[in-house]
Order: sequence, then structure tokens, then C-alpha cells
Amino acid sequence: MATRSLQRELLGWLLVPLTAVVCFNVWTTYESAVETADLITDRTLLASARVIAEDIQENDGVLEATIPPAALEMFASDPPDRVFYRVTAPSGLIIAGHPDIVVPPGQPAGLEPTFFQTMFRDQPVRAVAIAQPIISARNPGRAVVAVGQTLNAHDQLMTGLWLKALRDQVLLVAAAGLLGVFGLRRGLAPILKLRDDVIERDPTELKPFAVNSVQSELRPLVEALNEAFARIQRQMAAQRRFVANAAHQLRTPLALLKTQVGVGMREPGTAAKEEALAAADKSVDGMARLSNQLLSLARAEQGSSSLMKSAVDFQAVARDALEGLTQSALSRDIDLGFEAGEGEFVVWGHPTLLRELVVNLVDNALRYTPRRGSVTARISREGEAILLQVEDTGPGIAEVDREKVFERFYRSAEAGGDGTGLGLAIVREIVSSHDGEVGLSGRQPPPGLTAWVKLPAYRQG
Ligand SMILES: Nc1ncnc2c1ncn2[C@@H]1O[C@H](COP(=O)(O)OP(=O)(O)OP(=O)(O)O)[C@@H](O)[C@H]1O
Ligand SMILES: [Mg+2]
Repeated sequence: MATRSLQRELLGWLLVPLTAVVCFNVWTTYESAVETADLITDRTLLASARVIAEDIQENDGVLEATIPPAALEMFASDPPDRVFYRVTAPSGLIIAGHPDIVVPPGQPAGLEPTFFQTMFRDQPVRAVAIAQPIISARNPGRAVVAVGQTLNAHDQLMTGLWLKALRDQVLLVAAAGLLGVFGLRRGLAPILKLRDDVIERDPTELKPFAVNSVQSELRPLVEALNEAFARIQRQMAAQRRFVANAAHQLRTPLALLKTQVGVGMREPGTAAKEEALAAADKSVDGMARLSNQLLSLARAEQGSSSLMKSAVDFQAVARDALEGLTQSALSRDIDLGFEAGEGEFVVWGHPTLLRELVVNLVDNALRYTPRRGSVTARISREGEAILLQVEDTGPGIAEVDREKVFERFYRSAEAGGDGTGLGLAIVREIVSSHDGEVGLSGRQPPPGLTAWVKLPAYRQG
């Protein structure tokens, strides 16, 4: 697609209709210039014909027409025109002028003048014929006076009138165009400045732009831009916090590992060495889990659009996740169950992350439920959503804490064991990257906790 220019588009909207109006104007001006020139020519022709008609006299019973100089002087013009005249007696006899030139197309009706076009050689001639009543006993009737003129002066007058109008109109369009360009430049200056500011900005600089420097129509744009900057700033702050927290979390088990290895090396006995080695092994496991968690969190954090998603059978994923946890359930003597309703439970998502989600919820349920308790994972449909519930018979979470436990590295005071406080944060991140919802509620009947997740069901086609 060709790049669109606001400046060019606005100018187009201004100049194209203006040019159309001017074209129409020029055309009507041409018409009225022709009309004016015709009118002036016709008046002169008529005045000249009248002067000639008034000078027709009868001498000794013979009609005579002398052409007074005044009748021809009115035609004096630059460029000169040729003037023709012709006087016909009532009898039909030509008494002045040339018989072949300015022959009227017919007898003028009444006393009204008849205007007509004729040719002299290859030049067009405009002419008038008038009837002049003769009061005489011998030559009664009407004499006809015809006067014609070539159109040099007429055409020059017309062209002069028209060209002047054309020049004015063209000047008008040019002035409108120039003012338009000038106005647009001025009007667009704030947005162009904003563009330069954005381009020249230091990439780490996220200060908002001044809203007052742009026109009211552009304010929403600048405000949206500022909002985006604020969002990025918040995200960057969260990222920095996360990195700092993660570094801190990694440092503690590493220090522990170092101590355990040191103890192992110093201990002389094989049994003591083995004990230290087993402790170190456990620390390494913990660290491996932590790094996995950090990785999942980073991956889920990329957001919905950048994940490689496909149609995933959520029931199969959940079943698989639970199978991986049966050993840990057995070791704690917990009854781990899985229930799935009838039908398909397909979601559009990332299979590894979805598995991680189930593992984190079930792992919590197993971890915080006392021995001989029970944990049930259940999948069902709720309208357009697929609902996962993980229910346990543990101590539950106080209502005031149910929001806090989703924060990264947050662990409630009474939570024992060796968690890092990332499990639920990961769950929330995965749910939001799948456009779902997550929540915690008290198990019915108490005691215990129900963690639930709703994901949009995937519909084929
Ligand atoms: N099913 C549950 N029953 C009671 N308390 C829970 C349950 N699930 C989570 N919690 C509480 O919420 C806190 C946060 O859980 P989260 O899974 O985020 O972290 P964690 O389990 O402590 O560590 P990890 O990162 O290893 O999962 C836990 O420390 C625990 O206090
Ligand atoms: Mg956990």
C-alpha cells in the first residue's frame, strides 16, 4: 500500500473541489463574455443601421441612400473590422452597398431588427437588418437596411474579458493552495514535533509527553501514548523487582549448597559424607525446581499473543499432570482423585504451560493438606468455559490472604516446607495468557480450599 500523507490528503480535499468549482466558473464566465461582446456588437450594428435608414431620401421620385460617415465611424476599432452595408428599396432594387454581401435571410417582420450571421469570404460576419417605412406616393412600402461587421473586435473583447476572469480564478486557486499548505504546515507542526520527539527520545526515557502542546483532537493520542509509556514503566519496575527477588532466592539455596558440600568434604567418615551428599542432592533438586519455575514464569509472561498455541485436550493434560504427582500423594498418604464430566474439554493454549498450571495447583493441595487427607481435581463445563477445580481437605487460606498468595514470593506465615512462593503467581500468569480467570474459595463443606480456573472452550471452525 502506498504511504498516505495527511498533508497531501487534506490538500487534495481542498484543491480538487475548488478546481472543479473554478472550472465551472470559467465556463460560465466564457459564456457571459460571449454574451457581453455580442450585445455590444449588436448595439453598434443597430445604431449604424438606424443612422443609414434615417438618411434615405426621395429625389425626383427616386429613392436614394447616402451613407453618412457617422454610420461607419462607430465601427472604428483596433484591430480594424470590415463593415458592409446594403440598402434595398421597397421595390427590391439595391440602392446602396453590395448586392452579394449581408443578404438578410428574409424580410424583417414589423419594425423589429433581425440579427443574423453570415460569411464574407472565410470570415464570419455578424449583421442586422431593419425595415424603414417610406412615406411616398411613388415608392410606398419599406426599405431594408442591412449592416454587417467582421468579428475581430468582438473576438478580442470577448477574449479580453474571459482571460481576465480566468487569471483571477487561477490566482484564487493558487492563493487557496498556498494558504492551505501554510495552514496545514502550521496545524500539523505539533504532531510533527511529537513525531520528532518520539524518534529522538532516549529508549529508556519513559516520561510522559506534554498534553497541552497539541490541539484538542490530538490529545487522546498523546494521552494513549503516555498511558502506554506508564504501562511499560510499571512492567519494567515489576521486571526489575522480579530479577532482584529471583537473584535473592537463588542465592539462599546456593549458599546452603556450598555449606553442605563444605561439610561433606571436611567430614572424615563415609556415612557422614553420604549424609552431606544426600542433603546437597536435595538442595540441587530444589534449585532445579526454582529455575524451572522462573522459566515458566518468564514464558507465561510473554503474553497471550506470542505463545505458540494449539488446540489442547485439557482433560488429557490434567490427567497426565496428576499421574506425575501420584508418587508424592502416596508418600503423604493422600487420596488423590480425578473426575471429568462427559464430553470434550478442548482449549486453545500452550500444552506445557497448561500442564504447569495443573501441577502447581495440585502440588499446593498435596503440600498443604495434612496426611491422610484427600485431594480431588475436577474438570467440567460451565457454559462457554471449561472449569478446573482442585479441592483439598487442608487448612484452607484465610479470605484476607486469598489475593496476596498470588503475589510472587509471597508465602503465608504458617506455610511450612520449602516452597518459594511462585506457584500461584505462575498459575495466574498462565491463566491470563490464556484469557481465563482464576480464584480461590473455601471448600464446601469445610475444611479445605477449592482453587478454580476457567478457560475459554475452543470451538472448531
Ligand atoms: N491448597 C492450599 N492450602 C493452603 N494454603 C495454600 C494452598 N495453596 C497455596 N497456599 C498458600 O499460598 C502460598 C503461596 O502459594 P504458592 O504456590 O504461590 O507458593 P508456595 O507453594 O509457597 O511455593 P512454590 O513456589 O514452591 O509453589 C503458600 O505459601 C501457602 O501458604
Ligand atoms: Mg506452591
